[in-house]
Amino acid sequence: MILSAQHPLSAGLTGDSRLVRAYRGERADTTPVWFMRQAGRSLPEYRDLRVGTRMLDACLDPAMASEITLQPVRRHKVDAGIFFSDIVVPLKLVGVDVEIQPGRGPVFGRGYADAAGVAELTAIDPARLDETSAPITEAVQRTIAELNTTDNGSGTATPLIGFAGAPFTLAAYLAEGGPSKDHLAARTLMHADPGAWRALMEWTAELTGRFLRTQVLAGASAAQLFDSWAGALSLADYETHVAPASAKALAHVHDLSYEVTDAAGTRSTRDVPVVHFGVGTGELLGAMHGIGVDAVGVDYRVPLDVAVARIGEGVPLQGNLDPALLAAPWPVLEAAVRDVLRRGTAAPAHVFNLGHGVPPETDPTVLTRVVELVHEAGA
Ligand code: CP3
Repeated sequence: MILSAQHPLSAGLTGDSRLVRAYRGERADTTPVWFMRQAGRSLPEYRDLRVGTRMLDACLDPAMASEITLQPVRRHKVDAGIFFSDIVVPLKLVGVDVEIQPGRGPVFGRGYADAAGVAELTAIDPARLDETSAPITEAVQRTIAELNTTDNGSGTATPLIGFAGAPFTLAAYLAEGGPSKDHLAARTLMHADPGAWRALMEWTAELTGRFLRTQVLAGASAAQLFDSWAGALSLADYETHVAPASAKALAHVHDLSYEVTDAAGTRSTRDVPVVHFGVGTGELLGAMHGIGVDAVGVDYRVPLDVAVARIGEGVPLQGNLDPALLAAPWPVLEAAVRDVLRRGTAAPAHVFNLGHGVPPETDPTVLTRVVELVHEAGA
């Protein structure tokens, strides 16, 4: 399906931004940069706005979600906004009993760790999301209304990145009924009842894929799939029990494209760029690329030049400063940023990011300084 003429990619607003060019494998005037969890508790303006509003209520309030998305774009002059939401929002929107507890994460009314639980969950039609996702569409539309006129140095509008949780990461929370260290309930179900596991993954893929598609249709210029907890899996389990569902989720975005006209007047179509990220996934990087994505997000454990050797040349990478370094003395941090940039030159293109999310206690002025350094020193 071709995106509407008003979409920032179709309208020629973001297609040549540093970010979208990097996801296509092209280097621009400098390296683009954004931070996972750039919106959130590290910003005093976020903490002020959130007083008295629960996390999921904030996600479903279009004016608030949009404002929170824009705060770090205005403050840090990053090359992209990441939509303020959460991986459990689509579950909430179809009526699953879930809340986000501060300092803990998503907590469900129950765990879905056996065939009976899975049957109850999968009785919900994922297409219900299309009737309840109006707050997401409105929040994205409000956000791009400002981003379309925000040039943070690219010489273009600033793109919005949409995101969703990958089926395994969502299933890890669902099976357990909440956060866990080792995701044991999900890993047990995968082997104890492969049929129930497959049903859970297919349902989750359908739901989370629709959530991602909603954001792109509403105006996001790229999509990131977060499989944060995939690093808990062996390569064999990932390939057999997880990767097919992640590919299914992404199919909801892969059929979206936009038309471009080159200088000679020749028209062609391009796909919406897709990035795939996980934590502790050093062993899985090749497989995570293999499900069909444009770029791979790398956590801080694997240097980017080593990631190139594992994934193969020709794949744009995103990452991977250790978030712990943000609290180190500036000369130490500066050297680490330069090291990430240097190793990133091994890939055809590089989007600077952290190896995981911004810690809540981070001094935001340090993030702004990192953006300036990346733009000044980037290739
Ligand atoms: O700026 C951004 O990156 C966009 C916002 C974003 C949030 N959640 C907002 C949020 C994104 C991309 C997510 C995705 C998400 N949510 C992931 C994948 C990314 C990752 O970090 O690996 C995961 C695993 C979750 C589940 C989740 N939601 C966790 C673990 C937590 C943290 C709990 C805590 O309080 O420490 C949340 C809550 C959450 N999601 C917050 C934010 C800003 C904190 C809640 C608050 O500010 O009150």
